[in-house]
Amino acid sequence: MNLNEIIRNRVSVKNYVNEKVDPKLLIELLDDAVYAPNHKMREPWRFILIDQDRKDALKQAFINQVGVIDAKDEDKFDTIFSAPMVIAFIMKLNKNYNDEIEDLQAVGTVVQNFMLLAYEKGIGTAWKTPAFIELDGFKEALGIGTDELVVSLIRVGKTDKFPAPKKRVPAKERVTMY
Ligand SMILES: Cc1cc2nc3c(=O)[nH]c(=O)nc-3n(C[C@H](O)[C@H](O)[C@H](O)COP(=O)(O)O)c2cc1C
Repeated sequence: MNLNEIIRNRVSVKNYVNEKVDPKLLIELLDDAVYAPNHKMREPWRFILIDQDRKDALKQAFINQVGVIDAKDEDKFDTIFSAPMVIAFIMKLNKNYNDEIEDLQAVGTVVQNFMLLAYEKGIGTAWKTPAFIELDGFKEALGIGTDELVVSLIRVGKTDKFPAPKKRVPAKERVTMY
């Protein structure tokens, strides 16, 4: 597959087959994904891999922190972490607002790199940003600092069928020649 085919065919995957994904392979993909633009080489990312086996432990830790999980959050939590693996892309909040925006953009490029590389290997992904990722209780349960941001939870796993890509507005309709 050429890069343009990989970009055009990568899609958010909802349904995963019940099969483990080798964390070693995912770390190899992340090792390529980090060749992403980032200002002043701050490399503002880190990653937490959460195997489906650890879902209940994470949920219990979350409950221990917040007392009770809001029903909507619990539903989202259960759905997201039903994937064979979830990767949390984490960055440190930056005291400088402009640097923080740059860092957020840089982490976003790593996420996309990762999803494209995974797709190239036949592995499905989906980007999730449920409201609970902002909760200190969720951050504590995940073992990260409250001075860090969960940029995204990426569901990862093999799938029987990649959905058809959603159509995009052709870029030429959004182009202005200045
Ligand atoms: C920053 C960001 C946050 C997202 N958060 C969610 C989310 O919380 N839930 C969800 O279902 N999809 C989420 N998505 C995925 C988009 O809905 C999805 O990429 C979009 O519908 C295009 O579909 P595709 O990925 O199949 O091309 C998010 C995507 C981005 C870039």
